Amino acid sequence: MIFSVKNENLQREFLGLSFDNPVGLAAGFDKDAEMIDLMEPFGFGAIEIGTLTPKAQPGNEKPRLFRLPKDQALINRMGFNNGGVNEAVDRLKKRKSNIIIGGNIGKNKITDNEFAINDYEYSFEALFNVVDYFVVNVSSPNTPNLRALQEKEPLSKLLSRLQERNNEKEKRKPILLKIAPDLTDSQLDDITDIVRETKIDGIIATNTTISRESLTSVKDKVKEIGAGGLSGKPLTARATEVIKYLRQALGKDICIIGVGGIMTPEDAVEKMKAGANLIQIFSGFIYNGPSFVKNINKAIINAGV
Ligand SMILES: Cc1cc2nc3c(=O)[nH]c(=O)nc-3n(C[C@H](O)[C@H](O)[C@H](O)COP(=O)(O)O)c2cc1C
Repeated sequence: MIFSVKNENLQREFLGLSFDNPVGLAAGFDKDAEMIDLMEPFGFGAIEIGTLTPKAQPGNEKPRLFRLPKDQALINRMGFNNGGVNEAVDRLKKRKSNIIIGGNIGKNKITDNEFAINDYEYSFEALFNVVDYFVVNVSSPNTPNLRALQEKEPLSKLLSRLQERNNEKEKRKPILLKIAPDLTDSQLDDITDIVRETKIDGIIATNTTISRESLTSVKDKVKEIGAGGLSGKPLTARATEVIKYLRQALGKDICIIGVGGIMTPEDAVEKMKAGANLIQIFSGFIYNGPSFVKNINKAIINAGV
């Protein structure tokens, strides 16, 4: 009652699903599906769990998550710490909330890229009956070589295999691809070709960036933090640019979920104007606190986007 905004102008029909509002919680916040019933009252229209891998893994050594308050940014190198997909499946079966759930899947660190497809396929099958849509994550900078799976040939094979499995089901589920903001235009062109070829349902743009451009925090501090994905305000403009590019290339029928540096309600409106059908937040929720979803939803109603 405090944080939710119920309004028919917020409702969205995409991916064959009815969203109460377009604001989702981005992947990585509730990797193990432990907090769904706790997070729903903050007013989200969807929660994306994961990234989940077939086997449990500890992720990188701590410290692995840093704040850059001057830049309204985070740097993380969590490295897909999670309890494994099967534990998450058990939790999802017990959840009380019926909020829309996205299942974000990846590969274990110890799995060579050559066998990565098997990891994605395993988690796809495990989660099939307990999530509403799937996200294929090939864009985290914190699993060695993962982003090589964004290249044309491996990506095409991966998505084709998942679509084969999907089409064998009585009722298929939407599959989206989550991409990095660091791709060149020609890589983005390859991706849009593959989206059309494999007939997947949408794209989530974007994951965190490996770039450290335009940071105002002390250079030595940034250097000392070291490797990881940067999120928050320094990502806002690039993520929007990618969304615009993809929308122009793909036309209106492919669902785009816009994420990356939504730090104000106005940023959310801008993402939707750039072509996002739905949006997600992570760093903005950390910096703004619990009323952020409500404020974004109010701005979306006022802007009529
Ligand atoms: C601590 C942390 C962990 C994350 N873990 C994941 C993850 O497991 N899978 C994923 O697809 N994205 C992950 N992300 C990326 C976010 O989902 C999002 O794409 C990115 O942070 C950009 O949005 P933001 O600027 O609103 O934070 C993570 C981000 C952070 C800050």
